[in-house]
Amino acid sequence: MLTCTCNKAESVAADEPLCTQPDQTDLVLIEEDPLIGETPQGVLQSWLTPNPLFYVRNHYSIPSVDETADWSLSVDGQVENSLNLDLNGFRQYAKQTLPVTLECAGNNRSDLTPGVPGNPFQNGAVSTAIWGGIPLSVLLNEAGIKDGATEILFEGLDRGQPAPDEEFGPYTRSLPIEVAMHPDTLLAYEMNGEAMPIEHGYPLRLVVPGWYGMASVKWLTHISVTTGKYEGFWQKDRYIVENDEGVEIPVSNIEVKSLISWPQPGTALKGMVHVITGLAWSGNADIASVEISDDGGETWKSAELVGPKYKYAWQQWNFVWTPSSAGHVTLVARAHDENGNKQPLENRWNRLGYVVNGVRPVCVDIKS
Ligand code: MTE
Repeated sequence: MLTCTCNKAESVAADEPLCTQPDQTDLVLIEEDPLIGETPQGVLQSWLTPNPLFYVRNHYSIPSVDETADWSLSVDGQVENSLNLDLNGFRQYAKQTLPVTLECAGNNRSDLTPGVPGNPFQNGAVSTAIWGGIPLSVLLNEAGIKDGATEILFEGLDRGQPAPDEEFGPYTRSLPIEVAMHPDTLLAYEMNGEAMPIEHGYPLRLVVPGWYGMASVKWLTHISVTTGKYEGFWQKDRYIVENDEGVEIPVSNIEVKSLISWPQPGTALKGMVHVITGLAWSGNADIASVEISDDGGETWKSAELVGPKYKYAWQQWNFVWTPSSAGHVTLVARAHDENGNKQPLENRWNRLGYVVNGVRPVCVDIKS
């Protein structure tokens, strides 16, 4: 039997609220410097996340960037022609826009038992924006990738020491060439129609649709085409999970997941009929269905998929619910994608707390 996140449900009197909700007008701050914050619960009801409430995950302090004075992007390494562009250079290419849901690989880490080190994200390290920029492939084609190249390496302007014994350096990650060359992998300078906000990578960031957020390098300043396999700290020592054989492999595509946006845990509901709403997403395929249970996972009914449909953005869903009796009830949502992946009923524990995509029961109070 699944139990809800607000564990007070069984112990509170019927006229007491089950839980209190935090303020919804700011990011839910986890750390100030480096800045880390979650999207507030109430805002997870919205398909597009407003820029100031889009979750932030930084490893180092935000770099200061004067775009006109000192920022440019260089492309070099195993290429026919090295490139160097400022932001005006980017505006000469046709702009493309793409709605993409970004989720931090550590989202829901705090749901793991026993607990693991790392930012104690609840379920708000996931957000959706319409990103504007140019396909990375346009630049890579212009530079001309030489035969034998294997990876593309991306370097941000932010710098720091990833761990006590590690060298000071920039946030750097690589992508296989086929992912970098995918027409939907973007170099983005706009977020929801505005210039990229500084905390999200101004003036330019990578957006890798369908992948967990760590791949979408912010404050991008250097792209290098390489023949090797990049094994820097943020690629080899973090963002790795054990597979079924116990081997640690790099995190890549977002696993299928859903959340209940309304009612929020602890809501007291009056009346006969209620509309449960939520979001579901997968980095591997479109969402095929979402099921709802109001008995802690014993029985399931289909929700209706509603709202905008875009390949890399989350899917809204509704479920019209007539509770069968008054009292405390545990609601659960479970998503399935078109590739046959289903959201697990239980989280898969791992030492670094990544890819936590198990269902998250929500308890509500039905008033007679
Ligand atoms: N890029 C740089 N340069 N530095 C970072 O710390 N964090 C990564 C990624 N890109 C990071 C970065 C991680 S772990 C995530 S989840 C996303 O950025 C978060 O993007 P956001 O802060 O715009 O939501």
